[in-house]
Amino acid sequence: MRRDVNLRVAGIAGSLRVDSYNRALLAACVELAPTALTIEPFDLREVPLYDRDLEDEGFPEAVTALRSAIATADGLLIVTPETNAGLPAVTKNAVDWASRRPVPTPLDGKPALVMGATPGRLGTALAQAQLRGSLAHAGAIVLPRPQVFISAAGEKLVDGVLVDDETRERVAAALAAFAAFVVRLGPEGSP
Ligand SMILES: Cc1cc2nc3c(=O)[nH]c(=O)nc-3n(C[C@H](O)[C@H](O)[C@H](O)COP(=O)(O)O)c2cc1C
Repeated sequence: MRRDVNLRVAGIAGSLRVDSYNRALLAACVELAPTALTIEPFDLREVPLYDRDLEDEGFPEAVTALRSAIATADGLLIVTPETNAGLPAVTKNAVDWASRRPVPTPLDGKPALVMGATPGRLGTALAQAQLRGSLAHAGAIVLPRPQVFISAAGEKLVDGVLVDDETRERVAAALAAFAAFVVRLGPEGSP
């Protein structure tokens, strides 16, 4: 990749709890991103539940901030937990707000990368499958692979730090692949 490439990526974690494994994973992504890519975390805590009445009154301030963070970025990183074999409400809520008109919506044509961490065995595979479907429906272009499923999160993310070397390598590889993907899809990657 060219040295002068400087990509900005909006990063969101689909968990609100302070000691969240996924918030810690997002922090690790900030650290492990290649130099060509800067991840700017966006905190979903202030984003209300989607409500068409709220939307009709004008997007709430936190929603406008979320939409702007995604719209102005070169790409979107979503790091999600899994609940009840699916996508948690916090993550889906962010996607739903970002998918709303006017067109182009913040998600239209947006390159996206998904990851997830859980103490469970499947590494958020079920949640990520749903998230990929929702993002594709909303017009985002999701990096097909490598996929990052982090199981046994308590052993790998300790005191907010990604300590497992093999997982660090997998996360770094996905971020590098995503940087190349964003360049390929964006104006810089056009022939
Ligand atoms: C209501 C609920 C349902 C859950 N269901 C699943 C599940 O289906 N699969 C899974 O891997 N973990 C499940 N978990 C465990 C979460 O992965 C775990 O709480 C995780 O730490 C949440 O992510 P966070 O640490 O980023 O907050 C569930 C947790 C809750 C509260």
